[in-house]
Amino acid sequence: MEPLAPIPSRPLPVSARAPGKCIVFGEHAVVRGSPELLFALDLDAQVVVRPAPRIELNSDPRGIEENPYFRAALARGWPDPAPVSVRSVTQLPKASGLGSSAAFVAALSAALASASGGLERAALAQRAFDIEREAQGVGSPGDTSASVAGGFVTVNAGEGAPLWSVASGAERWDVRRVEDPGWVWVIGYSGVPRSTADAVRAVARRLEEPDGPRILEAFGDVARAGIEAVGRGDREATGRLLGRNQELLRTVGASHPRLEELLRAAGPAAEGAKLTGAGVGGSIVALPKPGQETELVRRLARAGALPFAVRCSPAGASLVEGAAPG
Ligand code: MEV
Repeated sequence: MEPLAPIPSRPLPVSARAPGKCIVFGEHAVVRGSPELLFALDLDAQVVVRPAPRIELNSDPRGIEENPYFRAALARGWPDPAPVSVRSVTQLPKASGLGSSAAFVAALSAALASASGGLERAALAQRAFDIEREAQGVGSPGDTSASVAGGFVTVNAGEGAPLWSVASGAERWDVRRVEDPGWVWVIGYSGVPRSTADAVRAVARRLEEPDGPRILEAFGDVARAGIEAVGRGDREATGRLLGRNQELLRTVGASHPRLEELLRAAGPAAEGAKLTGAGVGGSIVALPKPGQETELVRRLARAGALPFAVRCSPAGASLVEGAAPG
C-alpha cells in the first residue's frame, strides 16, 4: 500500500476537513485492546484557521476555556505564540456516536500542523488521539485514526495493510487499512445525546465483573468474524454478526430503549443492525437488504430518528486548498 500523503506546509489562513466515523464492529471492547472495524463517513467537519488579534472559536473568545478539544488541540498543535481565530462547521450531529469530536480534532490538527510546517500522517494520528484522550480522559485511537486515514480501518485485528500504531503510556493500538466493500449503510441518530466518557467508564466497570473476560473474548470473536465477513463481501453474515455484536453491547449496558426501538424499526429492511459508537443514546447503523436502502431510511424516519444513507469516504483529513471563507 502507498503510504498516505503527509499534511503539506501552507501559510495561514488554512482550511482543512476531516470525516466522521461509523464503527461496524468492536466499540468499547477496543478500549481494552480487542479488534475493531470502522470506516470514515462521507459526512465531515471543516475548519478555517486565520491569524487574529485574540484566540477565538467561532468568534467566541471563551472557546479556549469552554471547549476542551479546542484547548487541547491548541496546546499540542500550535507552538506559535501568535493567536488564531478558528471557524468550524460540521455535518455531524454532536454526541451522536458519529465521531463529531474526532473529525473536529483531526481537521483542526491538520490545519494547525500545515501552518506549522506540515506533518506525517502517522504523527497526525498520534496527535489527534492525544488531543481527544486529553479532552475526554478515556478512549481508544479508533475514531481519530479513521478521521485521519479515511477509508475502512481495523484496530488490533492483525488484518490489512499496516497504517500506524498509536500509543498512550504502556497501551498500544495497531491500526490497519482494509478494503471498502462499497456498500451503502443507513445510520439513524436517536436524538438522545450522550457522553462518550461516561459510557466508556460504565462499560469498563461492567467488564470488571467476573464474567468480563468471557464477554470481552466474545466481542473479539464477533469482530474478527465480522471483519472477515465484510472482507469477503458477505452481507448476510455481516448482518448476523451485527446482531451478535448488539447482544454483547446490550449485555454491557451500552444500549438504550430508543436505540432498541430504532433497531426494531430497521429490522424488516436490514440484513442486521446495531448501535454504533459509545451508545447509551447516539445512533444505530444498519446494513440494508439489497434494494431496501430507501425503505430503511423511511422506517427510521417514521420511528423518529434522523436517518442518513452513507458510504465510506476514501479521503481522511485533508487541506481544502484555495478555500478561506469568512
Ligand atoms: C466511541 O466512538 C467508541 C468507543 O469504543 C470509545 C473509544 O474507542 O474511544 C466507545
